[in-house]
Amino acid sequence: MTTMPSAPWTLDGVPGLLDETDTRVLDWSLGYQSRFGIRGDLLELGAYVGKSAILIGRHRRADERFTVCDLFESDDDDTLSRTAFEANYLAFHEQLPEIVQGHTALIRDHVERKSCRFVHVDASTLYDDVNDDLEAAKELLDGEGIVVIDGYRAETSPGVAAAVWEAVAMHGLRPIYLSPQKFYGTWGDPGPMQTELAAWLATDSEDWTVLEQSIAGRRVIGLCHLSTLPSQTLPLPECQTFAPSWTEKTPPRRRRKKKKKTLSRRLARKLRMGLAKAIGRSR
Ligand SMILES: C[S@@+](CC[C@H](N)C(=O)[O-])C[C@H]1O[C@@H](n2cnc3c(N)ncnc32)[C@H](O)[C@@H]1O
Repeated sequence: MTTMPSAPWTLDGVPGLLDETDTRVLDWSLGYQSRFGIRGDLLELGAYVGKSAILIGRHRRADERFTVCDLFESDDDDTLSRTAFEANYLAFHEQLPEIVQGHTALIRDHVERKSCRFVHVDASTLYDDVNDDLEAAKELLDGEGIVVIDGYRAETSPGVAAAVWEAVAMHGLRPIYLSPQKFYGTWGDPGPMQTELAAWLATDSEDWTVLEQSIAGRRVIGLCHLSTLPSQTLPLPECQTFAPSWTEKTPPRRRRKKKKKTLSRRLARKLRMGLAKAIGRSR
């Protein structure tokens, strides 16, 4: 394992969206593999400026390779994100991982089939790209290897959700546990990890919300660390009551006054009616 700096272990200063739940669960998952002697390389698709890579790199053993793949395009303030990635990573580790700068479609040229125990998919959120990334992950992972997929239920990335659940329904991907942000799965047997995880959560049960369900007869654990939940609900704006128009009484319709008929008009009417009768009789 890479030697860690003596400073307190904190990723707070590194930009990125890794929350408290996934910081703990990623760390636990990689630690689980070490405890149970599961060996293999580590891979991250989508590294940005290194937040999750720094955490993953913490679990690399001396005989294991860690590869990250990212386009590393310039960000807004024109600093190459690769430069920022390297600086951040080296603040925590002595040695950089292997860096593939480019599209994740290239990853099979750099990582051997069945060589990995862990793949983090956090690059493109487009359906076709995620489909390809998942196919690559399946090919590169060995046995009980874990794939972690970011953004599987965000309204901003429906393509990720579609690709993930399609892989579950059609291509043998099995959920192990689900956090609000990440899907943890395997193409192996999720059972042993689920048992260990449930035991770990039970020791810390006050800090976690945990839910178990089954999908197509298979166990799935949903979890969230309490510090990830929003601590307060924003107050709703003052409630304004309007008198809706349909509750107001509609004013009675004014009747039109009948015009009084003049004598000449009354006589003309009688004459018309008499004439009509006479014509009717003569027919
Ligand atoms: C959400 S960020 C990754 C965050 C990082 N894993 C973390 O937790 O800090 C997504 C990254 O994926 C990269 N990316 C997006 N599409 C890609 C693609 N098709 N190939 C390679 N990298 C890609 C972006 O450059 C960006 O740095």
